[in-house]
Amino acid sequence: MASSLTKDAAAQGNPANGGKTFFGHPRGLATLFMTEMWERFSFYGMRALLVLYLISGGADAETGSQGGGLAMTAASASAIYAVYMALVYLLAMPGGWFGDRVWGPRKTVIVGASVVIAGHVVLAIPGPSFFVGLAMVACGSGLLKSNISTMVGHLYNGPQDPRRDGGFTVFYMSINLGSLVAPLLFGWVGQSINWHLGFGLAAVGMALGLTQFLFGTKHLDPKSSQVPTPLTVEERNGWLRKGLLWAGIAAVFYGIVAGTGHFTLNWALVPIGVIGIAIPFAVLFRIKRDKELSPSEQGKVSSYLWFFVAAAAFWMIFDQAGSTLSLFAEKNTAKTIFGLSFPSTWLQSVNPMWVLALAPVFATMWLALARRGKEPSTTVKFAMAMVAIGASYFFFIVPIMMSAGGDKVSPMWLITVYCMQTMGELCLSPVGLSVTTKLAPVKYASQMMGVWFLANTAGDSVVSLLGIAGADLSGVGVLVAEAALATLAGVAIYLNRKRINERMGDVR
Ligand code: PHE
Repeated sequence: MASSLTKDAAAQGNPANGGKTFFGHPRGLATLFMTEMWERFSFYGMRALLVLYLISGGADAETGSQGGGLAMTAASASAIYAVYMALVYLLAMPGGWFGDRVWGPRKTVIVGASVVIAGHVVLAIPGPSFFVGLAMVACGSGLLKSNISTMVGHLYNGPQDPRRDGGFTVFYMSINLGSLVAPLLFGWVGQSINWHLGFGLAAVGMALGLTQFLFGTKHLDPKSSQVPTPLTVEERNGWLRKGLLWAGIAAVFYGIVAGTGHFTLNWALVPIGVIGIAIPFAVLFRIKRDKELSPSEQGKVSSYLWFFVAAAAFWMIFDQAGSTLSLFAEKNTAKTIFGLSFPSTWLQSVNPMWVLALAPVFATMWLALARRGKEPSTTVKFAMAMVAIGASYFFFIVPIMMSAGGDKVSPMWLITVYCMQTMGELCLSPVGLSVTTKLAPVKYASQMMGVWFLANTAGDSVVSLLGIAGADLSGVGVLVAEAALATLAGVAIYLNRKRINERMGDVR
């Protein structure tokens, strides 16, 4: 059986790979692996500095830390961070659309990477253009992220290719390799020497990623260069007209707000936060209400709603690693381990470290359970993930209380919080992506990668609006509420698992 699988796999191999493989996968996977590794390197490196840079020099900065930042309050910095994260994942949807209808995935990745580099260069230049740079990085990442994942799928012959899941696992490793190394380097360069030098490092990382993508492009599947459903001239003109109209309305509106001296950052943040919640709902509602779907597809979409809402609550907590947990690392955690001191950004490497350490353990565990016919279904894995992430925030309350009087706690507390969150991530993230593609109605197949990222958008937007409304994101009240919400979502999924599984039809 195994050998016939391997033979089939070889026969299905990508003709463009010239016989060379990468860990037994088509050679193109190496190209995508390196590109995503560098992209995540620049993304997580910059993310590790973002909130600390925004508060640096202000009242909420740690005493004795490097100045030269934007001197914001921790509350504003966390709200900006959440909006930025929401925007990155919101833009994955139009990113997928550009890949599908305008440039094809390969070209969209090149454009996205170029915009990311330009955005980081803008961030590296001190001055008022900081938020322009941030918006550029968000746009570029959005264009890149969904297309690069789509291209991984292209290397295999459809969902039945036996190497496909393994390919995505290798790809997930590239993400975490980049995210592991970045905070170590960025913390040293950005947090200890100069913030802008750190942001410049992100531009260099992405430039390396783009260079090797261009060199390795011949190894990609020819499908990646094609535009699957190109826009017609009328459609293109229609979109251009609509785009220009909306841009004009926004320009006039913000022109008036700024001209009358009313503009504050909230005029930019609140609309994005609201849109970040409205769009995911609107998109799912449109798919759910589509009369062209067969009854079985409709059932699948209904079951998907459960997963989607749970994932939104999951990422709501998880994505605060770069804000709430980063602020706690900076201000309330002892930055020494075994007598060695380190910058607080180094703790941002703990999640990817846990992923790399625990992913093989989880893979072995699922396999061992599967052999005995006891592997939990997707539904149960989601429930487990929600309980794990909820538990991580309940647990986080202990060091929060211990440090309330100004004492610094051991870094082991955050390392444990990250361990619990990573166990949740390993139960939810890989199966989430896979169940998204499997439950997708045929008509929406090419959009579903973007839909999955909208769960992050929704979760991050909730946090941004909470922050803007003045909630203390590091306060026990908010933490308990978030932890309870996530845990309850897990319990609800578990109790309804039979109903959800029935609607999923043949998908498991
Ligand atoms: N570390 C993962 C990544 O950067 C986290 C993530 C998973 C983000 C799924 C979005 C969606 O890709």
